[in-house]
Amino acid sequence: MKITMSVIKADIGSVGGHIAPSEKLLETVRKHVQDKGRGMLIDSYVSSTGDDVAILMTHTGGVDNAPVHKLAWEAFLAGTAVAKAQGLYGAGQDLLKDAFSGNVHGMGPAVTEMEFEERPGEPFLFFAADKTDPGAYNLPLYLAFGDAMNTPGLMLSPKMAKGFKFVIMDVNHTEGDRIIELSAPEDLYDIATLLRDPERFVVESVWSRAAGTQAVSVATSRLHNIAGKYTGKDDPVMLVRSQMDFPATGEVLQPFAIGHFVAGCMRGSHNMPIMPVKLNSTISYFDGPPVVSCATFCIRDGRLTGPVDAFDHPFWDRVRDHVADKAMDMRRQGFFGAAMLPMNELEYTGIMEKLAVLEQKFAVRTMKRAA
Ligand code: 13P
Ligand code: 13P
Ligand code: MG
Ligand code: MG
Repeated sequence: MKITMSVIKADIGSVGGHIAPSEKLLETVRKHVQDKGRGMLIDSYVSSTGDDVAILMTHTGGVDNAPVHKLAWEAFLAGTAVAKAQGLYGAGQDLLKDAFSGNVHGMGPAVTEMEFEERPGEPFLFFAADKTDPGAYNLPLYLAFGDAMNTPGLMLSPKMAKGFKFVIMDVNHTEGDRIIELSAPEDLYDIATLLRDPERFVVESVWSRAAGTQAVSVATSRLHNIAGKYTGKDDPVMLVRSQMDFPATGEVLQPFAIGHFVAGCMRGSHNMPIMPVKLNSTISYFDGPPVVSCATFCIRDGRLTGPVDAFDHPFWDRVRDHVADKAMDMRRQGFFGAAMLPMNELEYTGIMEKLAVLEQKFAVRTMKRAA
């Protein structure tokens, strides 16, 4: 059976700053999706990661399906009304346009979707991250789908021996989707060359070369490209199908034990390590640290079984402690050097006005030359 999985997520307001949505907000979104999605959706799962609310939906309408996108948009409008009534912070933060026009691309919410023929057993992982941006998944995907040191399946599974195709997007290009397709293993160094710059080049999808089927889909939107100013971080969602033609679930999860440094945290302007957290975790230290959650499911005829929380295991407690240490170490150097994002990433913030004023005060010292 051909099934579409759609995840549409937005920050529409949160309690106590950029921490977490209220229970009532979540319940309102959940009820809207259930009531208005009847006859359109097969199944759904509404969850929060930090201050972001994600709606996972299964249906048979294909990607960019107007009624499905409209349903999510209107669910977020209903949630925003609650956020306003409760005085939540940043009510409607990610809803950047007034009128819905066909799909939510370019309207603020992040979208990631996949249409595929269900396998007899169909496990998948739904990742949601807060206080970071879509390039946060570059390193985990490079390791899981390109590196035999991480993924022994690349050696051990004949189904994976041909490797994977990476579709990488230049997210600075705003006039349309500028993409490049590269294949691992032969293009691995080219893939590395692009993915090392996660603020510009972002993995959009990954495909099995042997089966021609899609394994990964990442939401790639950059809010400042829509709003023209800093409105919040582009907290990304990702779907990963696992096992058989694809890496095992544990191979997909392993890279998250690194706690790699990503863009995000406090005012979207810092580099901090990303912490794998349990489902429905909130945000705290320095408006962070950046967090990623992972809900695993199986799916049959579009019906979801799960979630099982992939990061709710004693192993990840140790990782979380390690990431907390890394986060505190980085914070000790405040705004200096690598702690803060480079200037080109701050150009949508108020710091540009400050620099423009200082620019006027600069003078070139005239040197006395030796005769
Ligand atoms: P398969 O059953 O897909 O071969 O999985 C084995 C496995 O996941 C070991 O990590
Ligand atoms: P969000 O993008 O999650 O709203 O975070 C905003 C922020 O920068 C908090 O410091
Ligand atoms: Mg927020
Ligand atoms: Mg957020």
